Amino acid sequence: MSDPVPLADVAAAVPLRSDYVIDQGWAGYDGAQHAVWRHLFERQSRLLPGRACPQYLDGLNRLGVAADGIPDFARLSDILDRATGWRVVAVPGLVPDDVFFRHLAARRFPATNWIRRPEQLDYLQEPDLFHDIFGHVPLLMHPVFADYLQAYGKGGIKALNLGALKNLSRLYWYTVEFGLLHTAEGLRIYGSGIVSSFGETIYCLEDPRPKRIAFDAQRIMRTRYRIDAFQENYFVIDSFEQLFDATRPDFTAHYRLLAHMADIRPGEALPGDRLVAA
Ligand code: PHE
Ligand code: FE
Repeated sequence: MSDPVPLADVAAAVPLRSDYVIDQGWAGYDGAQHAVWRHLFERQSRLLPGRACPQYLDGLNRLGVAADGIPDFARLSDILDRATGWRVVAVPGLVPDDVFFRHLAARRFPATNWIRRPEQLDYLQEPDLFHDIFGHVPLLMHPVFADYLQAYGKGGIKALNLGALKNLSRLYWYTVEFGLLHTAEGLRIYGSGIVSSFGETIYCLEDPRPKRIAFDAQRIMRTRYRIDAFQENYFVIDSFEQLFDATRPDFTAHYRLLAHMADIRPGEALPGDRLVAA
């Protein structure tokens, strides 16, 4: 007869739902985990005025519950839902591409339910909930950006079927994660990967090394990116309307052309690039 199965293993053996959604388990976070959230939240909130775009700051403000500690995704979702019809759902970490796209297409943002440890405040290999929530959710309060991300999800399902994920994911990287916005007051950040990073918030705006290139969807879809260091180029939009309009057309024909075009290296300069001053 086999030994009794320990309870923990029984729980681990429960099959994942096909949408990967789990309970956030909010009551299970301990004081140290809430303290990590508050530390990161306060550090970024001090840094972001005058650096993040006003739409992001406005969204963060209106999501007030986020200042107290790790947010309860259900409470956060109620605020978000009333603003733009999006909700946040908990997942155990990165999910397969098709699952991710189907969530976005249904206006659900999948956020991981784990938070970094106190010794990982500045560097992470994989997004934690501070990145997913603090980085991504405030802009989902903005109606145009909210529609853009849903359209991206639908486009993702199409790109998967056309074998063009490599091209489309660069668009996500250089807009949703690392985008900059031109404003009358100067360059501002809207990318989630930047607003959740202390070091890159300053680097992307002030460091002389990275190129800041005017937005060009086709150029972006040819440009490789680095996941292990600060970016060597950023792309600058003039407005969320511009971003949404430029990505509205059916990309099927674009993908066919792109398949024959060479990749562009991160940081590489092209003759057609319009550079934006920091
Ligand atoms: N319009 C794109 C397509 O047809 C989809 C898309 C929308 C891509 C928004 C990026 C952002 O595939
Ligand atoms: Fe992200």
